[in-house]
Order: sequence, then C-alpha cells, then structure tokens
Amino acid sequence: MADGEPRQSMPAQDGARLHRITLRETGESYACAGDRSLLKAMVALGRRGIPSGCHGGGCGVCKIRVLEGSVRCEAMSRSHVSVEEQATGYALACRAYPLSDVVLEVVGGMRKGLTRRYGLL
Ligand code: FES
Repeated sequence: MADGEPRQSMPAQDGARLHRITLRETGESYACAGDRSLLKAMVALGRRGIPSGCHGGGCGVCKIRVLEGSVRCEAMSRSHVSVEEQATGYALACRAYPLSDVVLEVVGGMRKGLTRRYGLL
C-alpha cells in the first residue's frame, strides 16, 4: 500500500466514498471512489494490474471476477459477461463501480481479447 492511501472505505474529498481495490494475484491495491470504474481509477493512478482495452464495455479485455465485496455494473457486452457469469461475480472492470472494498482476480487479457475480436492466437 502506498503512503497516504486509505486502508478502508472512507469518504473522498468530493464526497464519493473511496474503496480499497485489491488484485488477488499480485496483492496490488489502490483506492477507487464509488463513482469511478475499477479500471478508470487504476489507470488514473498509473497502475497496470487489470488489462485495459476499449474502456467502453465492448472488448472484454478487462474482465474480472469479484471474490470479496460488491460492485455495481453498467451495461456491458453479454458476449463477454453472460447473465449467469455476472451472478457469480464476473464483470468488466471498465463498467464496474465499487460499493465496498473489493478483492478481485483478473480473468481477461489481451490474448482472450485478440482471439475474440480478430480470431488470432
Ligand atoms: S476495456 Fe474493453 S471491455 Fe473493458
């Protein structure tokens, strides 16, 4: 954890709640306000733990699974996250907003994105 980052959910300066997002594979963590997507907050901090693609819910590169905590999801491509997957914690980080502290695992990545989009690999 970097100095100055909150350890638990707490109010951000603009009134939005900050939540601690932790990537299980690396143990990396960062703060994310409830009104920012998991991906946008990570990129804004210069981190790269979650693969980043279209930022619009369409490519599936940023697919994650929420292991602890909860998120609110905006519309995302059902070809990348089915209703059944979403019910078991899968989401697209660019379309997911934290409702609490979150522990997640990265599921997507460039290989999967390239395979689906271009038929490569
Ligand atoms: S970055 Fe493309 S779906 Fe999230």
